[in-house]
Amino acid sequence: MSIPFFLLWLLSSPLFSLAAPSPRGYFINCGSKTDIQQDGITFLRDEGYALAGNLITLNRTDILSLLTTLRYFPHGPGKYCYEFPVTKGRKLLIRTTYFYGGFDGGIDPPIFDQIIDGTNWSVVNTTEDYKNGLSSYYEIIVIAIGKTISVCLASNEHTKAPASPFISSLELMNLDPSLYNSTDFGKYGLITVARSNFASDGDFLRFPDDPFNRYWQPFIDGNPTVEAHANVTTSGFWNQPPAKIFLSGSTTSRGKNLTLQWPPFSLPSNRYYVALYFQDSRTTSPYSWRVFTILIDGETFYQDLNVTTKGVTVYGTEWPLSGDIEVTLTPRSDMPVGPLINAGEIYQILPLSGTTLARDAMALQIFKQSLRNPPDDWNGDPCLPIAHPWSGIRCSQVNPVRVISLNLTGLSLRGILPKEIARLTALKELHLDKNEFEGPFPDLQDTFPKLRELRRDSADGV
Ligand SMILES: *[C@@H]1O[C@H](CO)[C@@H](O)[C@H](O)[C@H]1NC(C)=O
Ligand SMILES: *[C@@H]1O[C@H](CO)[C@@H](O)[C@H](O)[C@H]1NC(C)=O
Ligand SMILES: *[C@@H]1O[C@H](CO)[C@@H](O)[C@H](O)[C@H]1NC(C)=O
Ligand SMILES: *[C@@H]1O[C@H](CO)[C@@H](O)[C@H](O)[C@H]1NC(C)=O
Ligand SMILES: *[C@@H]1O[C@H](CO)[C@@H](O)[C@H](O)[C@H]1NC(C)=O
Ligand SMILES: *[C@@H]1O[C@H](CO)[C@@H](O)[C@H](O)[C@H]1NC(C)=O
Ligand SMILES: *[C@@H]1O[C@H](CO)[C@@H](O)[C@H](O)[C@H]1NC(C)=O
Ligand SMILES: *[C@@H]1O[C@H](CO)[C@@H](O)[C@H](O)[C@H]1NC(C)=O
Repeated sequence: MSIPFFLLWLLSSPLFSLAAPSPRGYFINCGSKTDIQQDGITFLRDEGYALAGNLITLNRTDILSLLTTLRYFPHGPGKYCYEFPVTKGRKLLIRTTYFYGGFDGGIDPPIFDQIIDGTNWSVVNTTEDYKNGLSSYYEIIVIAIGKTISVCLASNEHTKAPASPFISSLELMNLDPSLYNSTDFGKYGLITVARSNFASDGDFLRFPDDPFNRYWQPFIDGNPTVEAHANVTTSGFWNQPPAKIFLSGSTTSRGKNLTLQWPPFSLPSNRYYVALYFQDSRTTSPYSWRVFTILIDGETFYQDLNVTTKGVTVYGTEWPLSGDIEVTLTPRSDMPVGPLINAGEIYQILPLSGTTLARDAMALQIFKQSLRNPPDDWNGDPCLPIAHPWSGIRCSQVNPVRVISLNLTGLSLRGILPKEIARLTALKELHLDKNEFEGPFPDLQDTFPKLRELRRDSADGV
């Protein structure tokens, strides 16, 4: 289960200085025919990034223009993807934003799955936010395992026909290699659960304060707050938090424990990555430091942390958590000042499902490119996730995942059947009738020792 990580302004915030360079990555205004500027970032129209789907414009003037357009996809078993060329190995923060707006004439937003490459990322359930007049967003950090990365939507058992998956905007931000680098991104993705700026009741902190356009949500509770008297240079921090998160902190008086109920919702039992950020708020001097111990749900997270005006971060890479979480900072007994905290990040660790064997995936890519009318769900990983392979394709479910059957009967495909089909060496079945393939038919029987069944309908001119 994933955690709803939500809430977003609906109206634009005050003017941005355009001096800051745009974050690097892709910023997509889904369903739009035009590019728009928002908060100093250019959001491109989505043409060319998605193969399928329809565009809708919500006729509303009271919401961010980014939210006034959306793309929706057919209801059905297929997955529908946005695909982006990327540098292999690049670390990316991906954010999907949803605002239903009753585009299909319904009352409640459709519920569906979102998928990253071959991995089921999470359910998209924006019901609660939409009821409260809010848009919703989800984030995940992954690295590109190939030269393209795909972000897909698919119906699930809660997507009641004719409801269909939709999306308002999509962002892929390039992260520097040092960010969150204690995680093995070959095996895991990090789903954002909360990224909080403690003792702040202002706006979201984001670009240009955060060059990667991470959203730092204000978090305020009953604890006393302090303001920093020294600036922090954050370049030495691997996660490169924006310096502004250190400007406000939650604290308590001398000798007392500081307790936070954070994140402010219950967590499903899982393993989490947790990073916490601290700075002594006083003017820099030889005495401006304080020592305290950090506990999460009663477990020692860090013993006797020495926090100075330079700031410090501590993190746990795989912390098991569940339910309501309490963070306690216990001052060392001789400390003349109380403990304090400025910001925190918590991510759910998502095991990745891998991908289809690259050789098979590449052969299918070539096949797809040789077709003039490829099926509109032939995007993203061909076999994975298991519930959403390309239409007409069946795969083995053991590692490595291979294509074992192509049943293209009746898909009315036009184009050439390329000889690269022969590279699908695990293929056991091939059904090609009721299509309109042209040109010479590649010699497959020889190259497919495992092929049991090869059906072609000569009446249709295969
Ligand atoms: C918005 O208005 C346009 C033009 O008047 C119309 O074509 C479109 O269907 C409307 N969209 C919705 C969701 O009602
Ligand atoms: C995808 O994952 C979510 C949990 O995040 C789960 O509820 C959903 O059923 C999964 N979808 C499929 C098709 O397995
Ligand atoms: C979607 O969210 C609503 C509101 O939080 C909840 O009542 C409903 O059970 C959720 N549906 C699914 C399928 O998770
Ligand atoms: C993370 O990045 C920093 C800065 O580049 C480097 O010093 C550190 O060794 C890296 N840690 C891991 C676990 O790779
Ligand atoms: C911190 O930085 C801000 C803006 O760069 C500057 O206005 C302020 O004087 C600095 N504060 C200290 C204590 O150096
Ligand atoms: C503060 O937390 C510590 C655990 O670190 C606990 O032993 C102690 O009783 C707490 N003090 C108060 C006043 O709650
Ligand atoms: C904490 O760090 C400061 C600055 O580096 C140092 O002067 C002080 O002795 C340290 N305190 C402890 C208890 O290590
Ligand atoms: C192939 O697909 C067609 C159309 O979906 C279906 O009618 C047929 O039963 C399938 N054949 C096999 C062997 O699965």
